[in-house]
Amino acid sequence: MSFSKVFCRTCGPLSVGGALLIAWAMMGPQPAQAREEYQPLVVVLPDVDAVAEYTANALYDVIEGKAKKGEGAVLGLATGGTPVPAYALLRKRLKRAADMNLSKVVTFNLDEYVGLPAGHPESYRSYMAENLFVPGLMQGAERENGFSAENIHIPQGDCAAWDGLRDSVLIAQLQKHVDEYEALLRSLGPVDLQLLGIGENGHVGFAEPGSSFEGRTAVVRLTQSTREANRRFFDGDINKVPRRALSMGIASILSAKNVLLVATGTNKAEAVRRMLEGPVDTGVPASALRMHTRVTVVLDSDAASRLSKQ
Ligand code: F6R
Repeated sequence: MSFSKVFCRTCGPLSVGGALLIAWAMMGPQPAQAREEYQPLVVVLPDVDAVAEYTANALYDVIEGKAKKGEGAVLGLATGGTPVPAYALLRKRLKRAADMNLSKVVTFNLDEYVGLPAGHPESYRSYMAENLFVPGLMQGAERENGFSAENIHIPQGDCAAWDGLRDSVLIAQLQKHVDEYEALLRSLGPVDLQLLGIGENGHVGFAEPGSSFEGRTAVVRLTQSTREANRRFFDGDINKVPRRALSMGIASILSAKNVLLVATGTNKAEAVRRMLEGPVDTGVPASALRMHTRVTVVLDSDAASRLSKQ
């Protein structure tokens, strides 16, 4: 690694190893309920590759730590462009650890679009199949790749499930579905490690600006800025980007024991600054992470470029 800059906001500059040690030493069985404000551990790495490696290692360590005790880690997973290289590295590491039992690993995805046909390449179900699990596994096939299909949870928003319903009935059905999702999250959780990206507008999951910090998994409307940001995945055509999604709320996210938010690129620099240095405010949903005691924010130097301590 040619350059790495890691600092703890309360204890100054740290080596990467030191930061990792502190981050993992802080892991433990304490869900955050606090209303006080805390400073996340901020880790600034030179580039996207280093961020991916850090992220893959963090996920791997939680999976391995639980597996060694004969237990299954509970992971909260994000989609989007940012974690793609991390999932690729994680897959490689898991493949090398062929004797590790992954069948008990439980995963909960943060969100899913409403209204894409089943199997649409841009649905988050397809994304997870492509980037971490295997397609067969997502269709309920046997254990391949070590994970068990029944332990993978992704909100279901495809048309096949919901097509043909009147709008009000559709919303009621979707709400029932997300209530069940939240109940499952509570019964199988708490999540050991929640992975997050951040939107340019400061969203986490699809908890958009203005979302209540008390919010749980819900049917949400995507903002114009999120649809603009995501149109790159839909042939550049905003009209193809769904208007609604199912998403964990801020309170669902904060119920995780540990949170790892990852951001890369200059387009995230302002959102990162507002998350860490602006007021804790529903206008910037990611700022709610400062109400949680165990948050690590991993950035490449571009995403960190607007922080005052650069
Ligand atoms: C995805 C998600 C979103 C993304 C965010 C950043 O599951 O919850 O909050 O993390 O929109 O997306 P990318 O990584 O594509 O910039």
